[in-house]
Amino acid sequence: MKKIRYGVIGAGVIANYMARAFTEGLDSTAVALADPNLEAARKLAPSLGVTRIVSDYRDLLSDPDIDAFYLATPPFLHRPMALDVLAAGKHVCVEKPFMLTQAEVREVIAAQKAAPHLKVACNSSRFHNTGIARRARAIVAGGELGTLYRVHFEQVTGAPKPGSTLPAWRNDPAKNGGGISFDWGPYDLDWMSFVLGDLFRPRTVFATSGNYFPLTAERVPPCLDVDGRICAEIICDSGLTIHWERRAAEHGPSRHNIEFRGTKAGFDTCFVPMGEKPGLHVHAYAGAEELKTVTLPDSLPDWNETMVFSIRDLSRAILDNRDPSNTPAQLLRIHGVFDAVIASSRTRQAVTIAD
Ligand SMILES: NC(=O)c1ccc[n+]([C@@H]2O[C@H](COP(=O)([O-])OP(=O)(O)OC[C@H]3O[C@@H](n4cnc5c(N)ncnc54)[C@H](O)[C@@H]3O)[C@@H](O)[C@H]2O)c1
Repeated sequence: MKKIRYGVIGAGVIANYMARAFTEGLDSTAVALADPNLEAARKLAPSLGVTRIVSDYRDLLSDPDIDAFYLATPPFLHRPMALDVLAAGKHVCVEKPFMLTQAEVREVIAAQKAAPHLKVACNSSRFHNTGIARRARAIVAGGELGTLYRVHFEQVTGAPKPGSTLPAWRNDPAKNGGGISFDWGPYDLDWMSFVLGDLFRPRTVFATSGNYFPLTAERVPPCLDVDGRICAEIICDSGLTIHWERRAAEHGPSRHNIEFRGTKAGFDTCFVPMGEKPGLHVHAYAGAEELKTVTLPDSLPDWNETMVFSIRDLSRAILDNRDPSNTPAQLLRIHGVFDAVIASSRTRQAVTIAD
C-alpha cells in the first residue's frame, strides 16, 4: 500500500504530540526531520521513526523520497516555509495558525495556482473529525434548523499552572499573530467553517480584545504582550450573526458553549473534548408542547483521534486526489476574520472584509 512520505519541519512541543500520525500504520510515514535545534530533533527522531536529521529544512526540499511536508514551526515561519515547499513541488500540512495575515494566505493560494495538483492543508481542521462535528454539519446542510440566524460560540480556558513558561515567540505578535486569538482561534473558526459550510461567509466584524493580565504573583500568565481575550460579533453574507468569544486566564471557571439557533430548531454542543455539554442536544418547540430536547448519540471528540486527523486527511486527499478537509479558500475566509478582529479592536469600529 502506498504511503505518503513526509518531511517533518520543527521538533518542538506539537511535533512530539503528532509523532503518532506517522507511525500508526495508516497512509502516512515520516522519512526525515529538520530543526536547527539538533538536540530536540535527535530526541524526537526515534518516536517519528526517522534517522535522517538535518538542521536546515531547505536540504530536504528536493529530496525525491519526500512527497509532503508537515510544518510544526512557529507561525512566522509558516509563510516562507509553505512557499518553499510548494515551489519544490511538494504537498504541505501547516500547523495552525495557517498564516499571520490574509495577505499571506493569498500568496500561498497564488503559489498553489501555479501547481494545482499540490494539496495544502492546515492542522486547524483537527476538530472536524468528530461525530459531533459531522452531525452538526449534516443538520445545518439538511435545513433541519430552518433559517440559521445565530451562532453563539463561547470558549473560556482556565488559568495557566503556577510557574508555566512558554517560548518567547508566543509573546510576540510579529511572530505569533496574536495571543489566545491565534492560539485557539484557528480551531474555533475552522470548526465553524466546517459545520456552517457555505454559510460561513464573514463580512462585517466588530471586535474587542484585551491583553493577558497577571492573576496572582504565582499565576502570572506566560504571555503578557499579546491578546488574552477577544470578543467578536461577526455578520455573514446571509445575515447569520456569529458571536465569538475566546478568553483565557481569568478569575472565573472554564466554559465551552456552542449554541446554534434557527427558525425551526436549535442545538447546543461542544467541540473540544473538555466541553461542559458533551453530546449534541437538539431543541425545538412543536405546536403547543413544551420545549423538546433530543440528545443525539454521536461520538464525543477524543484528543488522540483529533490530534492525528489533519495528517491522515491530507494523506488520503493526496491518495484520492480530493481536497483536504480545509482548503486555502476556506482559510482565506478565516484569516479575513483574524485581520478584521485585529483592526476592529484597534480602531473600535466595525470592519468590512473584502472578497
Ligand atoms: N504547543 C502546542 O500544544 C501546539 C498545539 C497545536 C499547534 N501548535 C502550533 O504548532 C506550531 C509549533 O508550536 P510548538 O509549541 O511546537 O513550538 P515550539 O517552540 O515548542 O517548537 C518549534 C520548533 O521549531 C523549531 N524551529 C525554529 N526555526 C526552525 C527552522 N528554521 N527550521 C526548522 N525548525 C525550526 C524550533 O527549534 C523548535 O524546535 C505553532 O504554529 C503552534 O501554534 C502548538
